[in-house]
Amino acid sequence: MTFELSEEHLAVQEAARDFAQNELLPGVIERDEQQKFPTQEIKKMGELGFMGMMVSEDYGGGGMDTKSYVLAMEEISKVDASASVVMSVNNSLVCWGIEKYGSDYQKEKYLKRLATGEIIGAFCLSEPEAGSDATSQRTTAIDRGDHYLLNGTKNWITNGNSSSVCIVIAQSHPELGHKGINAFLVDKDAEGFIVGKKENKMGIRASDTHSLMFSDVKVPKENRIGEDGFGFRFAMSVLSGGRIGIAAQALGIASGAYERALQYAQERKAFGKEIAQHQAIQFKLSDMATQIEAARLLCLQAADLKDRGKDFAKASAMAKVFASQVAMDVTTEAVQVHGGYGYVKEYHVERLMRDAKITQIYEGTTEIQKIVIFRELLK
Ligand code: CAA
Repeated sequence: MTFELSEEHLAVQEAARDFAQNELLPGVIERDEQQKFPTQEIKKMGELGFMGMMVSEDYGGGGMDTKSYVLAMEEISKVDASASVVMSVNNSLVCWGIEKYGSDYQKEKYLKRLATGEIIGAFCLSEPEAGSDATSQRTTAIDRGDHYLLNGTKNWITNGNSSSVCIVIAQSHPELGHKGINAFLVDKDAEGFIVGKKENKMGIRASDTHSLMFSDVKVPKENRIGEDGFGFRFAMSVLSGGRIGIAAQALGIASGAYERALQYAQERKAFGKEIAQHQAIQFKLSDMATQIEAARLLCLQAADLKDRGKDFAKASAMAKVFASQVAMDVTTEAVQVHGGYGYVKEYHVERLMRDAKITQIYEGTTEIQKIVIFRELLK
């Protein structure tokens, strides 16, 4: 197995790095403070092909592999994890889900616009009482002949306000448990679709996380993804891919903090020399670099399995568990290397430390990933 990057991979990495440094970095502190969604920046990311990287060119996407996506996610996340979660949800949960499981009609109607970033998508699974326990869906979608009638509430929805279309998971046959669940494409302007309160979050503050309510929303039959009762398996499959994106986000948060700490340690002087000359700091930076390298390999391994059509559920869960812990450890150490400066906003590492935490929570907590891994070990 080799993870030598091709010319194309290196070009994607460089394009993402340039974009992040030139376009995202200048306003990132202000957007975080003001919880301001990066509207213009996301539009440009769409123009550059970052919103539908893995979608085939027939549908306006970049036709790239998952390794390219990991590399781009890392570079964008080094600078702005709010922008990268918007990118991640759109690429992995929404575009990939529609391309893999959607009908031709759904691809024509939604995928083309999502892949080019003309519109943004959201993925709605979590509910006030169904987060990790995803089978306990209270949102209902009842068959009414030519349409489904959707009722319920979703929580913690990334892109909740900024999206134009949402994939909504809902129960159609409660007596069948998870086999009665369906997934639907729901237009944001549908009557009865209400955007609820925006969450005031610890990190990824510039992304918009909302609760969403559905009150007798009519969803056309042709908007159901897959056969009747396929919704839970759809959600699990899509989340497996999504976890590669979040693992890459965690990797980027960690490497962004590490690069800043390395730079700072070579500039800041204490006891008559740069702090990088002190062994205490050298040990920290060496540990950080080693952890990041291991996380990167797990991310690329999961991406490689997915690209080769192999089962990647265990690999993506392992990548997410590991990379998100690395993000926590490395960002905390990066703040420590910066001392008092690390605790103030101008030095960026305090934001990265706050952003790191969510990678252990969304798209399945660390504990859920360990359940997924253990089940795979028993197979
Ligand atoms: N691919 C395809 N199908 C899968 C699958 C996968 N990776 N994993 C499971 N399935 C299928 C199983 O084969 C099974 O199908 P059959 O009944 O046909 O055999 C079905 O799904 C049920 O599987 P389980 O019995 O394993 O289900 P479970 O109830 O025991 O739950 C769980 C397993 C792992 C705990 C699951 O509920 C889970 O992953 N929970 C976490 C959900 C989650 O990630 N929530 C975050 C939401 S998204 C988000 O964060 C929003 C955002 O905006 C970023």
